[in-house]
Amino acid sequence: MCGIVGYIGTKNAYPILMEGLKRLEYRGYDSAGIAMIDEQGKLNIYKTKGKVADLESFCAEKDTTGHVGIAHTRWATHGEPSSINAHPHYSSSGRLALIHNGIIENFITIKEKLVARGIQFKSVTDSEVLVQLIEYIMLNNKLELLEAVQVALHQVIGAYAIAILDREHPQTIICARQSSPLVIGLGDDDAFYLASDASPIAEYTDKVVYLNDGDIAVLQLGKELNVVNMENETQHPKVRQIDVTLGQLEKGGFPYFMLKEIFEQPNCIRDCMRGRIHTEENSITLSAVIDYREKLVNASRIIIVACGTSWHAGLIGKQIIEDLCRVPVEVEYASEFRYRNPIIYPNDIVIAISQSGETADTLAAIELARNSGAFVFGICNVIGASIPRRTQTGIYIHVGPEIGVASTKAFTGQVTVLSMLALCLAKERHTISANKYQKILNELMRIPEKMEQALETNEQIEHLAPIFTYAKNCLYLGRGYNYPVALEGALKLKEISYIHAEGYPAAEMKHGPIALIDSEMPVFVIATHDSLYEKVISNIQEVRARGGRVTALVTEGDERIKQFANHVIELPDTLDCFQPLLASIPLQLLAYHIAVCKGKDVDRPRNLAKSVTVE
Ligand code: M6R
Repeated sequence: MCGIVGYIGTKNAYPILMEGLKRLEYRGYDSAGIAMIDEQGKLNIYKTKGKVADLESFCAEKDTTGHVGIAHTRWATHGEPSSINAHPHYSSSGRLALIHNGIIENFITIKEKLVARGIQFKSVTDSEVLVQLIEYIMLNNKLELLEAVQVALHQVIGAYAIAILDREHPQTIICARQSSPLVIGLGDDDAFYLASDASPIAEYTDKVVYLNDGDIAVLQLGKELNVVNMENETQHPKVRQIDVTLGQLEKGGFPYFMLKEIFEQPNCIRDCMRGRIHTEENSITLSAVIDYREKLVNASRIIIVACGTSWHAGLIGKQIIEDLCRVPVEVEYASEFRYRNPIIYPNDIVIAISQSGETADTLAAIELARNSGAFVFGICNVIGASIPRRTQTGIYIHVGPEIGVASTKAFTGQVTVLSMLALCLAKERHTISANKYQKILNELMRIPEKMEQALETNEQIEHLAPIFTYAKNCLYLGRGYNYPVALEGALKLKEISYIHAEGYPAAEMKHGPIALIDSEMPVFVIATHDSLYEKVISNIQEVRARGGRVTALVTEGDERIKQFANHVIELPDTLDCFQPLLASIPLQLLAYHIAVCKGKDVDRPRNLAKSVTVE
C-alpha cells in the first residue's frame, strides 16, 4: 500500500525515481509525486492525481535536475486522491519534504497541537503531520534533522516507512521504518537507493539492507550507511543479496502482468519444487522440516492465518494436511484472528501465508501467536519481507515477483508448498503409506506439465469471455478441494472486472442461494473427475432445472456434463488434492479476459493495492 522510492548518488535522480515509481505502481496508483533537490539547492516538489504516467507528463516541462530525490505512489487512506493529498508533503517553511507509507493513528492529536501552535496544514492526510512535527521540533529545539526525527517518532503511534529530504542538507536522505517495509540498496558507486520493496533497486544493485522496526537510516553521499534507533544506538543490519532479474520485473511481451504471471505458472511451480523434490530418490526435503522436525511433527493442531487469496490457499492446505497428516487444521482470516482472543496452545503451529510478506493483519496475527507461545511458520514469496523475518521458520514459494494486483502464481505456489509440507509431515508422522506417498509425489511432479495443458484453454476462454461481460452477478460452485477454487475464482472476477461474484460450496445452494438462479446469472461449476463428481453433477442439474446457465470445468474426455452444461472447459485429469492447481488456471483466465473485454485496467484494479500494509 503506497510505494516509496529514493535515490542519492552521482547520477541524475529523476529517471531512477520515475522508473522506480513505475515498478512500484502496483502498490498504489491514485496519485504520485516526486521531490528533488537541484544543483542550486532548490527543493522541487511535483505531484499529481492519477497514475505515474500522469506525473511523468506533468514533469515533462519542469526542472527535474538533481542527484538526490524521493518519490511516492499513493493508495489513499486519509483524504481523497488529489494532488494536495499526494506525497511528498512539505513542511511549513518549505525546507523539508517527506513521503510516507503506513498510517499514523494519533495524527489528529498531533495535528491539533501543531495547529494550536500556528502550523498550517495543506492536506487532510495523516502523513503531513510527520513532516510538520519533525520541522516544528527541529526549529524550536534547534536540533539536527536526525535528532528531530528521533524525538518526533517517539510521539507517533502507527505504522510508517518514511523518507525525508532537507533542502539545507542536500547530500542526505533520512528514512525510518515501523511496521511498513523499507529496503535500502547499496550501489557500487557509493549511491544509495531506497524503496518499499526491492523491485526498483534490483536493476542497480543486488546488495540490500532490510530495515527493522525502529531503525532510522541516514543515507549520505560518500559515507557508509548509518543505521541507528530512536535512542541513537547504532544498529548493524545485515547486508543481503537479492536475486531478482530485470526480466521478472517486466511484462515480457504480455499486455498485462497478470496474464504473464498466469502463463508463468508451470515454470514457477518447477522453481518452487526445485531442490526440494528429488526425482532420483522420490522424496521431498524441506529444510524447515529438518531444522524443526520435533516441533512440527508433534504439533497437536495447526492454525493457518492469512488474507484474501492466501486464505483460499490455506483452505486447500487444511484439506491436504488433515487428509495426509491427520492433524486438525483451522484456517482463520488474520484480520479476525488478531482481534478475537483466540485460544492458542504452546503446542500449536501457526502457519502464516502471505505473498507479499507485508500484510498488516497477518503480521499482527503472527505477533499474537508468538506472544501466546505458539511456534510460527511462514509461507511467503517476497524474500526478506517482514513475515519471513518475524516467523521462526518457513518456506519461500519462489515464484518470482508477482506484480499483478490479482494474485495468480502466488496462489498456486502456496498450494504447492502446502502440498509438499503435508507430504513431508505425513511421512515423518507415519500417517501415510509408502505407496500413497509415492503416488501423490509422482503426480505433484507432473503438475507443471499439466498446467501447460490447462493453459491451452486460453483461446477458448478468450472467445467465451464476451458472453459474460453483461453479467451483474456470477456464482462459482465447487466441492471438497474445489470449493476454495470457487472462492478464488469469484475473488479474481470481483477484483478486476467489478462484477459481483460469489463462491459457494455446491451442495449449500439449496439452503438459500438457489433462489438467485435465473437465466441472467452465469454459474461456473468446477466439476472435475474427483470423489464428489456424482454429487456435483446433481448440483448442476439443480441449477439447470431453474434456468441457470452453466459453464463447467470438467476433466478431459467427460461426455456426461457436455450434455447439459452450456459450455465446458476441459482440464487434464489429476488427483483430488491437486485439482486446485489446475482448475484455478481457467478461472484466472476467465476473470482476466472478462476484465479486458470490459476495458478494465487489469493490473491496477480500482481501490486495490498489491500489498495491504494497513489494517
Ligand atoms: O500478500 P498477501 O498474500 O498477504 O496478500 C493477501 C491479500 O491481500 C491478497 O491475496 C489479495 O486478496 C489479492 N489481491 C487477491 O488477488
